[in-house]
Amino acid sequence: MDTAPSGTPYPALTEDLEVDVAVLGAGIAGLSTAWELTRAGHRVAVLEADRIAAGVTGHTTAKLTALHSLVYDRLRRTRGPEGARLYARSQSEAVERAAAIAAELGIDCELERVPAFTYTEDPGRADSLRAEADAASEAGLPASYVTETGLPFPVAGAVRAEGAAQFHPRAYLLGLAGDLRARGGRIHEHTRATGLEEGTPCRVTTEGGAVVTAGDVVIATHYPVFDRALLFARLSPRRELVVAAPLAADRDPRGAYITPDQRTRSVRTAPYGDGQRLLIVTGESFTPGTGDTAERFGRLADWTRERFPGVEITHRWAAQDNDPTDTVPLVGPFHPGAHHTYVATGFAGWGLSGGIMAGRLLTALIGGERPEWAGLYDPRRLGTALREGSALLGHQFHVGKHFVGDRLSAPGADSVDRIAPGTGAVVRLDGRRSAVYRDEDGTVHAVSARCTHLGCLVAFNAAERAWECPCHGSRFGTDGRVLQGPANQPLERRDI
Ligand SMILES: Cc1cc2nc3c(=O)[nH]c(=O)nc-3n(C[C@H](O)[C@H](O)[C@H](O)COP(=O)(O)OP(=O)(O)OC[C@H]3O[C@@H](n4cnc5c(N)ncnc54)[C@H](O)[C@@H]3O)c2cc1C
Ligand code: FES
Repeated sequence: MDTAPSGTPYPALTEDLEVDVAVLGAGIAGLSTAWELTRAGHRVAVLEADRIAAGVTGHTTAKLTALHSLVYDRLRRTRGPEGARLYARSQSEAVERAAAIAAELGIDCELERVPAFTYTEDPGRADSLRAEADAASEAGLPASYVTETGLPFPVAGAVRAEGAAQFHPRAYLLGLAGDLRARGGRIHEHTRATGLEEGTPCRVTTEGGAVVTAGDVVIATHYPVFDRALLFARLSPRRELVVAAPLAADRDPRGAYITPDQRTRSVRTAPYGDGQRLLIVTGESFTPGTGDTAERFGRLADWTRERFPGVEITHRWAAQDNDPTDTVPLVGPFHPGAHHTYVATGFAGWGLSGGIMAGRLLTALIGGERPEWAGLYDPRRLGTALREGSALLGHQFHVGKHFVGDRLSAPGADSVDRIAPGTGAVVRLDGRRSAVYRDEDGTVHAVSARCTHLGCLVAFNAAERAWECPCHGSRFGTDGRVLQGPANQPLERRDI
């Protein structure tokens, strides 16, 4: 967000519109889908609630790889060798697709080829890395087990995969959006979709009142804001923190790294002016609305300074993705009865290749084709329900605990007076739970503490000054506006 143009020229939708396909959400999944559809000859409109490429995709770390931490050994066991092979092929093709599009459209998105590594420093985990190397290689990735990674500290074992890349995701997508518009596609920023009527055609209503009539609709709002298939029961939100620091170019480890150790650490670098790279470190994954985020930022910054001595952290931010209960993204028809509605979600921290893959897959499905891997990603895959069983129950237990438990345990301060400047708490006001924030000037801002998605109680994230829902990860500003779904309505303001 800091190193790509911030302004984009796309107007809000003010009048009714008729198109072949309406794409809701303009992150990597939505824009890739809209671009592929436009290129295939469809008339497309993209509706974006905020600004394009500024959601999770604007705050990602943008490694483009088919090596997704420890996914292949698990896939081999749960979906069989064929499932793992289809996953590897579809994700590898997506990496190549991004490189080909950037080259064809001449998009300067700093796309660099690097090897990808999944590593561990824990000797007790080395066997699982060996198994992953074996499974990834069996699935068709150019992967091997190694103990040298280029990182400036020793590892116990690692999987190395060739053919990966890293890029500037916002620069890439601004280029894609420009080309989409040049081909006659429409993009409308600040246009939140608030209603969806499925039919022939479908109708999408927007916050400003304009209605889009479309033959097909793609829901690419990250967490689906419309959820006829109850996908929220199969998705758990995971927030991650990121810090970045300039690093002398001759200290660049020249790879894209991730480890499951220490609640995830991911490392890459990006171009950053003469003789420098920007070191980008991600980690400390947690459920939104739980725990102390400032403390977690401290741990991540300490780790970065310890592993790369002498660096000074210049940027920090956070973002979140959704983990599907069975590891595989949900991309395809929206629900069992859907004929003209599609969804792309559940990228489990790998939505760059996943979003590009989704664009290709959904364009094929809308065009009446069925790629080999359509079944693997099909959101209606009931065959995996049993395999998802324990993860699904675990997620529902977590949601239930917050839905009921938070009400009983009366979290937060017992009085508005106890809320210090710059902090917030849930307080009972006139018998109702209110989320109260006191700004640095001492002014108090109160909104309802009931999440507008399904009614769980929000909690304050002091490091990011936002209200977060622990159930499915909706996030709201201190004024109640939606920062992230699945909630699609603001928290109601309260007088205080
Ligand atoms: C810290 C972090 C690091 C990551 N690193 C990597 C990585 O290195 N490699 C990788 O492959 N993946 C990575 N990921 C995952 C990847 O970034 C995500 O999976 C991907 O960006 C999700 O894209 P999306 O298009 O689904 O969502 P988004 O980019 O969030 O786009 C969804 C859009 O929908 C809009 N929207 C929401 N509601 C509405 C509505 N009602 N109407 C209209 N629009 C709406 C939003 O404003 C948003 O712009 C990372 C994730 C995190 C959190
Ligand atoms: S996000 Fe689902 S209840 Fe809040």
